[in-house]
Amino acid sequence: MADINGRTPIRITHLEMKARPEGLPECPRPPEDFRLEKMENLSVAWYRRIYHAVGDDFSWTDRSRLSDLELGAIVQDPQVEIFVIRSGDEDAGYAELDCRNPDDIELAYLGIVPRFHGRGLGRFLLNWAVDYAWRCKKPSRLWIHTETRDHTAALPMYKRTGFRVFKVVDTFAPPPLPRDSRAPSG
Ligand SMILES: CC(C)(COP(=O)(O)OP(=O)(O)OC[C@H]1O[C@@H](n2cnc3c(N)ncnc32)[C@H](O)[C@@H]1OP(=O)(O)O)[C@@H](O)C(=O)NCCC(=O)NCCS
Repeated sequence: MADINGRTPIRITHLEMKARPEGLPECPRPPEDFRLEKMENLSVAWYRRIYHAVGDDFSWTDRSRLSDLELGAIVQDPQVEIFVIRSGDEDAGYAELDCRNPDDIELAYLGIVPRFHGRGLGRFLLNWAVDYAWRCKKPSRLWIHTETRDHTAALPMYKRTGFRVFKVVDTFAPPPLPRDSRAPSG
């Protein structure tokens, strides 16, 4: 709900873990009929498509505010690892691990396309990303953030996985983007 100045208040919750959580499954496998692939040589156009497919219903706009050059500099960086969950040739969701600071890794994005929600894919992808980060990257810290406009299942799910809140920021959502600028390019 917007305030009298037309701004939408949001709360951004930052969570972290400093060790691999006990009980986390090792090398979890995707649900039947799905497979996980690491994206190699991804195009900015592909990234924009999955970002919109996952996030449009949840007011995701951060990445839409970046030019192709700016976005490519992040998502095509070899230290930014992007994993997609697929069924046939359909992308069902993705996880983005930002390992540019290898000791302090951010699970920068995690999302499932709405038509695949509630089928265990988010839980699989989160377990997989957290296990992969601790097993293969061995950071001192893994962190994530979520905000009030994300899916309501996200914050409790992160806490159940072993993330602990370390910072809460009450702020305002950036102004909405014009509809046209949200359309995927390419
Ligand atoms: C949040 C999200 C990743 C969950 O993925 P999903 O595939 O729909 O969820 P799953 O079926 O794997 O369920 C995951 C957990 O959430 C719970 N959950 C799922 N839907 C729920 C709902 N509508 N209400 C409450 N809990 C719910 C499940 O019980 C499960 O709990 P667990 O901790 O015991 O495993 C997914 O809804 C999503 O991508 N949303 C849009 C983008 C987003 O908000 N991403 C998070 C940004 S930080």
